[in-house]
Amino acid sequence: MPNNIIHFHEVRKVYDDVAVLKDVSFEIEQGKFYTLLGPSGCGKTTILRLIAGFIEADAGDIRLEGKRVNDIPANQRKVNTVFQDYALFPHLNVFDNVAFGLSLKKLPKSQIAEKVRNVLKMVQLSGFESREISEMSGGQKQRVAIARALANEPEVLLLDEPLSALDLKLRTDMQYELRELQKRLGITFIFVTHDQEEALAMSDEIFVMNKGEIIQSGTPVDIYDEPINRFVADFIGESNIVDGIMLEDNLVEFVGKKFECADSGMRTNEPVEVVLRPEDIQITSVAKGKLKVTVDTQLFRGVHYEIICFDADGNEWMIHSTRKAKEGEEVGLFFEPEDIHVMRFGETEEEFDARLESYDDGQEG
Ligand SMILES: Nc1ncnc2c1ncn2[C@@H]1O[C@H](COP(=O)(O)OP(=O)(O)O)[C@@H](O)[C@H]1O
Ligand SMILES: [Mg+2]
Repeated sequence: MPNNIIHFHEVRKVYDDVAVLKDVSFEIEQGKFYTLLGPSGCGKTTILRLIAGFIEADAGDIRLEGKRVNDIPANQRKVNTVFQDYALFPHLNVFDNVAFGLSLKKLPKSQIAEKVRNVLKMVQLSGFESREISEMSGGQKQRVAIARALANEPEVLLLDEPLSALDLKLRTDMQYELRELQKRLGITFIFVTHDQEEALAMSDEIFVMNKGEIIQSGTPVDIYDEPINRFVADFIGESNIVDGIMLEDNLVEFVGKKFECADSGMRTNEPVEVVLRPEDIQITSVAKGKLKVTVDTQLFRGVHYEIICFDADGNEWMIHSTRKAKEGEEVGLFFEPEDIHVMRFGETEEEFDARLESYDDGQEG
């Protein structure tokens, strides 16, 4: 497929006899914003380093624009990296930092000046050319680092937790700016973060990683709405997760009751895990509810109350509600069949996708 700018095929990386990447395969389409999301140590930076060519794979194929690049040095790959700590030269001014790679390539001075002017404009730093790095704020340094990477006109920009050193307000602003920049330039961004909200807000596609593997890939909405397993459900957003039994297609049992649901394609009486998102549950009267619980505590979170309840079996239920509840009161919980997300134990991403697809086909027919 010509649209795939990066292709990993069963790529392994081993450190000290431990596989920190376990035969990872994925494809990256040209022009999209991808995010590698996962806890610290899961292998995100390792993937970026392999793409950039800073380290070598122990097995598998890495292709850029269809060409195997395992043995191609970093400086011959059309890839640039923006590092978490910016890695700027403190003794050089903004212009010289951005121009650094271009000077190494021995481009004519006038051409360098024009390219630097263009990329500084892109990151909204026109006029800052002669500013010292030490006189720049965190967000401005980050922009210089991005401008320096863009000056080399990469096909792919790798961004390794570039916003994690910024405070919350600036980080949110930079999220918008990066997203806008990616759309404007139309080049491929691969962004690394351990922050799920950041990943959901910015990405066309997310790869959720854990322990050297990609657990699930998809659009933010897909991953949020249909987590493949407990790890993803827990990592992406708040979840209520309980054990259940899939009695038959569209009928699941949990906390001793039967519920209509939208899932199908499992074995009769298969043990499963059931996810209900806090914002998909409404608090109502015991009579109108599908599940009876007792309100334990609540916290005001600005846009909603976070209400913790317990059912008769002692399961905890978190609900996000714009209305206050009364502590100690018995209430009913209401949710629709499609708010129940059923997850199989040990299902691979291929099996999971195939099952969802056959379910979607059934819906249309
Ligand atoms: N040069 C190295 N030598 C030994 N172990 C390493 C090296 N680089 C990374 N690792 C290990 O590989 C795993 C993945 O690291 P990394 O890709 O940096 O994770 P992440 O970026 O997701 O936090 C970690 O357990 C880390 O300790
Ligand atoms: Mg890292």
